Amino acid sequence: MVCKRYKGIVSNKYMTQDELKTLVGQAALAYVTPGEIVGVGTGSTVNKFIAALAGMKARVRGAVSSSEASTALLREAGIAVLPAHEAGELAVYIDGADEIDGRGCMIKGGGAALTREKIVAAQARRFICIADASKRVDVLGAFPLPVEVIPMAGARIARQFAALGGQATLRLKGGAPLVTDNGQHILDVRGLSITDPLALETEVNQWPGVVTVGIFARQRASVCLLGTEAGVQTLHFD
Ligand code: A5P
Repeated sequence: MVCKRYKGIVSNKYMTQDELKTLVGQAALAYVTPGEIVGVGTGSTVNKFIAALAGMKARVRGAVSSSEASTALLREAGIAVLPAHEAGELAVYIDGADEIDGRGCMIKGGGAALTREKIVAAQARRFICIADASKRVDVLGAFPLPVEVIPMAGARIARQFAALGGQATLRLKGGAPLVTDNGQHILDVRGLSITDPLALETEVNQWPGVVTVGIFARQRASVCLLGTEAGVQTLHFD
């Protein structure tokens, strides 16, 4: 992994997490080539990127979005949202992460959009991760691992995680099971120390009823723009 300081050094040592997200959201514009279609993720960091992208909307051909929430924001910003199947291969997919390790592997899905995020990421040549410094970890797993599941399989999948030492709980919203954009449920799995993200992603992908596991090792980041108090650090993983 090569690590270098981004050009714009920030002198204020007390930036808030929100300000760090704004910083990396703006820095991601450097990866958007005018005239191309950009893949857009989901979450509070991506919302900052969408706000920045609005400033160059005349030069953006359109976006492929990973969630209903990002689609709404992109449209509000005046950016065309294209169906994934009409867009062809994308040059870049820009998204946040809940955790990212030293190889660019990530946990994602804190915003429940992991399935479409993985689909759009797979359509792009490069994944540009934008994250504040709190997301950078040595080993994935302190953040509960989101897994989108077909509801009838949820209890059995929870038992399969228990056999691996994980405790799975059904994600709720307003007292009822959260329903994803795809009409499915989310399990959040605590207690895992994910030392081999690719192996665990491969294993859980085999379990009947798993729609998507929130480990992004196959679709790991090519680059991470990490917001720190010293500015944006660019981490290269390929
Ligand atoms: C959405 O489902 C997630 O994968 C987000 O990308 C992730 O949770 C990061 O979100 P924030 O940018 O809000 O921290």
